[in-house]
Amino acid sequence: MQDLLREPLASLHGFDVTGASFKADPFPFYARLRAEAPVFPVTIGRGRRGWLVTRYDDVLGVLKNDELFVKNPALARTAAELRKTPRIPAMFRALEQNLLGVDGTAHERLKVLVHKAFTPSRVERMREETQLVADAALDRGLSKGSFDLVADYALQVPVTIISRILGVPISDRERFAKWTRAFLALGQGGAAALLHLPSMIRFMGFIRRLVERRRHQPQDDLISALVVAHEGSDSLTNDEVVAMIFLLFSAGHETTVNLIASGMLALFDHPEELARLRNDERAFLKTGVEELVRYVTPAEMASERYAREDTTVAGVPIGRGNLVLAGIAAANRDEAHFERAEHLDVGRRENRHLSFGQGVHYCLGAPLSRLEGQIAIATLLRRAPGLKLHGPRGRVRWRPGYILRGLVSLEVSG
Ligand code: HEM
Repeated sequence: MQDLLREPLASLHGFDVTGASFKADPFPFYARLRAEAPVFPVTIGRGRRGWLVTRYDDVLGVLKNDELFVKNPALARTAAELRKTPRIPAMFRALEQNLLGVDGTAHERLKVLVHKAFTPSRVERMREETQLVADAALDRGLSKGSFDLVADYALQVPVTIISRILGVPISDRERFAKWTRAFLALGQGGAAALLHLPSMIRFMGFIRRLVERRRHQPQDDLISALVVAHEGSDSLTNDEVVAMIFLLFSAGHETTVNLIASGMLALFDHPEELARLRNDERAFLKTGVEELVRYVTPAEMASERYAREDTTVAGVPIGRGNLVLAGIAAANRDEAHFERAEHLDVGRRENRHLSFGQGVHYCLGAPLSRLEGQIAIATLLRRAPGLKLHGPRGRVRWRPGYILRGLVSLEVSG
């Protein structure tokens, strides 16, 4: 294992930031990079190189400059470079045409249409149901003695709620939940991901059939709302609705799972902050969950961006077509922007974290994840006051990967 805090930085060029042991505590290395090399060449598995940006102002600059740092690599690469880029299978290509895969007017168009369907009132209507789901999951967990806070609790809330919002029939929820495990594995890449390809194909077929059904028989759910959403004579095609559902489903659940589970681990690690939150929920729940969003940063990096032309960030030259990784977790610990940035403070007032991104791709689901996070965490604190880690802290494992940062499991007892 390389010594990330002592070895000369030049010998760490190309360091792979996706390993599980690095994910356990990347923050000291990020602090070093902010101080010494704020734009650093890293690898994100299978030899893919990118520039990791770690200072708050630079990360914000990358996220906001959507003309220069684009999502669609085709805009940033030459025809020859594109020919060398691995092709994704045709049946999955439609999925790329989602909010996080397009730029400019194509993005603006999708955003206008999805905002017509995914409204604040649709989210707010989920409050009671979220409480019911959290209560039921906790009851089941507590009845077992010890349980996995990730799979048995944190995952249950966003998966059930997004299925409800979308309008996935109850009889299909079990299958839907099984496919979520395929998603988690796919996110990790490699051979294991290939094993889940058949599940993905079935999932796509399932969504396509659901979209068709809603087109003929609309109901009071998000899929129907997406199908009928229009701006003038413009509306979403079937492929675009499928891609949107796919994105809402995947972007929505993994991140919120991480907020709830890693957030609780952060509280276990800081018993005095846990006590503050538990003893005065009215004063601290909102600021406390917002602080957990900053502190654990469920999406450690923004999704991929490519430089559209030769440029510099913090004085470092970045070539056209290069991959640029906006280090949100690193930016969220930047002392230049947060007082005592490395400390967890559930009463933090000034908290302009970047956890939901910034600029045109700002997270569509931020209000939903706040609602889910607040209810899920408050339920644990209120109803399981003795909840604690079951087993040694050292046994906690993190998932490999680069965009998300989350736990494999978290065994707890009440
Ligand atoms: C704690 C939970 C969440 C976190 C930390 C989070 C984080 C983020 C971040 C960082 C981005 C910007 C990515 C980029 O610019 O590359 C983003 C975008 C997005 N998120 Fe979330 N997210 C969360 C929950 C959700 C939920 C619950 C949903 C939907 C149900 C959702 C849907 C989306 C969508 C659709 C986008 C793309 C927006 C666009 O490109 O215009 N997210 N999210």
